[in-house]
Amino acid sequence: MHRRRFLELSLGLAALPLIVRQAWAATPPAMPGMDHAGHDMAAMAGDSAAVTLPQGRPLPALVRLAHRGGAGSVKAELVAAPLEVPLVPGRKPTTFWAYNGSVPGPLIEAYEGDTVEIAFTNRLAQPTTIHWHGMPVPSEQDGNPHDPVLPGAIRRYRFTLPKGSAGTYWYHPHPHGHTGQQAYMGLAGAFIVRRRDDPLAALPEQLLMLSDLKLDADGRIAANSMADRHDGREGQFVLVNGALQPTLALAEGERQRWRIWNATSARILKLALPAHEVHLVGTDGGPIAAPRRIEHLLLAPGERAELVVTGRFGAGQTPGLVALPYTRGKAMHPEQGEILPLLTLTRHGRRVSAPLPARLADVPALPAPAVKRRVEFAENMADPKAMFLINGKTYDMNRIDFEGKVGQVEEWEIVGNAHMDHPFHLHGTQFQVLARTVDGQWRDEPFLARRDVVNIAADESVRLRFSQELPGLRMFHCHILEHEDQGMMGQLLVRG
Ligand code: C2O
Ligand code: CU
Ligand code: CU
Repeated sequence: MHRRRFLELSLGLAALPLIVRQAWAATPPAMPGMDHAGHDMAAMAGDSAAVTLPQGRPLPALVRLAHRGGAGSVKAELVAAPLEVPLVPGRKPTTFWAYNGSVPGPLIEAYEGDTVEIAFTNRLAQPTTIHWHGMPVPSEQDGNPHDPVLPGAIRRYRFTLPKGSAGTYWYHPHPHGHTGQQAYMGLAGAFIVRRRDDPLAALPEQLLMLSDLKLDADGRIAANSMADRHDGREGQFVLVNGALQPTLALAEGERQRWRIWNATSARILKLALPAHEVHLVGTDGGPIAAPRRIEHLLLAPGERAELVVTGRFGAGQTPGLVALPYTRGKAMHPEQGEILPLLTLTRHGRRVSAPLPARLADVPALPAPAVKRRVEFAENMADPKAMFLINGKTYDMNRIDFEGKVGQVEEWEIVGNAHMDHPFHLHGTQFQVLARTVDGQWRDEPFLARRDVVNIAADESVRLRFSQELPGLRMFHCHILEHEDQGMMGQLLVRG
């Protein structure tokens, strides 16, 4: 088995820039230099260094998590450990922190109704947790900061995926104060929950996990600068499945189903596929009612979407997937003023595709709320210890901010009283956005969707509804990970 993995490793290095498998079971625990990015001293260094990565190779497939367990169950091991990757040509290997020796982490796939059992080993030098972002798992299985897995420890996560939970999720660490660092060091993986009666199941599927990589001049993963801590970390490279500007083949007229994860720490990506036909078919927590033709897709950190892309190659048209310019209110870095190419589509013949189904799923509206709450995002630049605030406070693990009840519909108004965009995220359930303000005027949301992240632009307010079906403690926070780590987070206690 080790020999097979070793062969995969050597092949992988030739074909895949960053997805690396390793004989992780045999990896020694600590490696010199692994703490590099943790040192604040290094954080004062310049923001971006002139290192280059190979680009333009075929899109690497996400590595699938090998698992045991028959029908109805997924049983597997995850190990978080340092990983050396020969990444930058001519430089020493780059140290990542990886799940099972792969960056991004292995893809987990399950069906509604399945029971998932993950034995997790922490071979990092600091505490960590695995949070099942967006998934309706019991609070004590959700990798809350209150349940750290200490270095060297093993923890078993176990949950059953309920009916109606099919969607595009991910998993990442959620330890107190270190989520950003552990995520940018490489710890994050995709988790897809499928349903048996999926009307799009026949379409070829592409998985695109977008992440951000910031390297220093030596090709090491750079620590956060002061500016990163303020604006949220952005690197020199936005990667797709660990590769820089990879290519993907698409035929004229061919329909592909794409799932896209914004696994960056802080980038708000206004995604577009100029010329091609794009339909939104699903959001974070599953399908929307019917396909919607879209021109672009705003995907905030932590957010996911499902698209159907139909190849329409126009004359003289270049790119594939790009991020359009977007202003998110950064104070210390320039805004993204240019079109950022992410992935190149190459034309591959012509194909006739079946029309899209008119209906995808039922998304019933939640009834009138039993409780209404207001959640205000604010910034206080005058206090470096408490810069990012929710209702005037920073996070306290021992404070309950709100108390709710299982099955009770809540309506929250999230108010962006801030200069920056802050993506709101809630654990444990999906919410429905009802309305948002545009220039101070409320506008009803044109369609219902299952979401667990919604961007709150500067001076924007969003009204949403949800109910929590399981008791326990649930975090809500800004998904710019540097803001979360600095305390832009609160806690909802759901009583049974
Ligand atoms: Cu993606 Cu509280 O997290
Ligand atoms: Cu989450
Ligand atoms: Cu924020």
